[in-house]
Amino acid sequence: MIGGTATLLTRSVLDSRPEPRGLEPFVAAYTDRYRFYGSGKAALRDGLATIAEPGENVLVPAYLPDAVVEPIRDLELEARFYAVTDRLAPDHTDLDGRIDDDTVAVTSVNYFGFPQPGLDELAAIADDWGCYHVDDNAHAACSVDEGTLLGTRGDLGLTSLHKLFPVPNGALLYLTNPAVEDAFEPSRFTGTNDRIGVDDYRYLLKSVATDVLETHPAVDALVSRGDGEPTSTPDGRYEASKVRMSKLAVQILETVDPAAVRRTRRGQYRAWQRALERRGDVRPLFAELPDGICPQVCPVYADDPRTFLAALERAGVDDAYTWPRLPGDVLEDPAYATARHLSRHVVALPVHRALGRETIEAVTRGR
Ligand SMILES: Cc1ncc(COP(=O)(O)O)c(C=O)c1O
Repeated sequence: MIGGTATLLTRSVLDSRPEPRGLEPFVAAYTDRYRFYGSGKAALRDGLATIAEPGENVLVPAYLPDAVVEPIRDLELEARFYAVTDRLAPDHTDLDGRIDDDTVAVTSVNYFGFPQPGLDELAAIADDWGCYHVDDNAHAACSVDEGTLLGTRGDLGLTSLHKLFPVPNGALLYLTNPAVEDAFEPSRFTGTNDRIGVDDYRYLLKSVATDVLETHPAVDALVSRGDGEPTSTPDGRYEASKVRMSKLAVQILETVDPAAVRRTRRGQYRAWQRALERRGDVRPLFAELPDGICPQVCPVYADDPRTFLAALERAGVDDAYTWPRLPGDVLEDPAYATARHLSRHVVALPVHRALGRETIEAVTRGR
């Protein structure tokens, strides 16, 4: 049985290597213009605060999790959605029609760790209008496309460290444009904590409890109680994410090996690709896995996602999910039908190390 995402204990044992490299040397090989945060949303908030004035608007893809627009609204900016195609590219005609003199920035998203399809045209439109380009690379901190670290295209960008590494929280804000870096002012969410806090202990306890006592409900109830629990509303989740990066995350990130993490995830991704070739009802969203890309998950299009998820569960994969939970405005507007369709049919398959190849093979056969 695959019990959720691999926990700290599992991963630290499985990923341990004699000479761990650490995250910062990896990032520093590509850029020195970055700041630490507790979450991608907090990083986005401070990045936008650097470039935007209340009343302006920020263009974001309609295919986006609901809480990601909260930092935009927090700054009294309008989150204006543009339509996407079924390749996850911006619908450039739709985008061009929504941009106006009050648009301060256009956001692209490197979905699931893959470079944003149709990026050049989006960047050209932003350029024509004199807007900033935000490179949202929340999903995969160590994806590199043709020598460029994803998240460092455009004027500013972000990446979430907690989506890839076994850390309680963590993100980077990239201040790629030197003028944006000059104008940047840190907030109380910028940087890292000096001391191990209650949430760090809770995370450690939960990691140990999940590994050692996975089936013990009393312990699970004990460790999942408390202030750090995410709330279910998008603004509640955003408010809870407005923190600095934890001390425990700092310490763990000093020991991770981004190249090894990328190798593992690419291997698991290829295993899914091979296995799913034999299923006619499921297709990978990205046909290729280019060099340097570190997939966060293996995203697939499922004709019947419910049946597919049930087959995954039966095979022992209980951490696959449809993605994302869309913002309310997107759910109501007919212009965003493709984003809605994708959110129902795209299934994210795990590619972490704890997933056994025999489990992947079992999904090939299961119906
Ligand atoms: C595309 C995208 N951007 C930004 C974020 C926010 O990242 P974080 O969870 O680190 O706040 C997410 C979170 O899922 C996301 O999917």
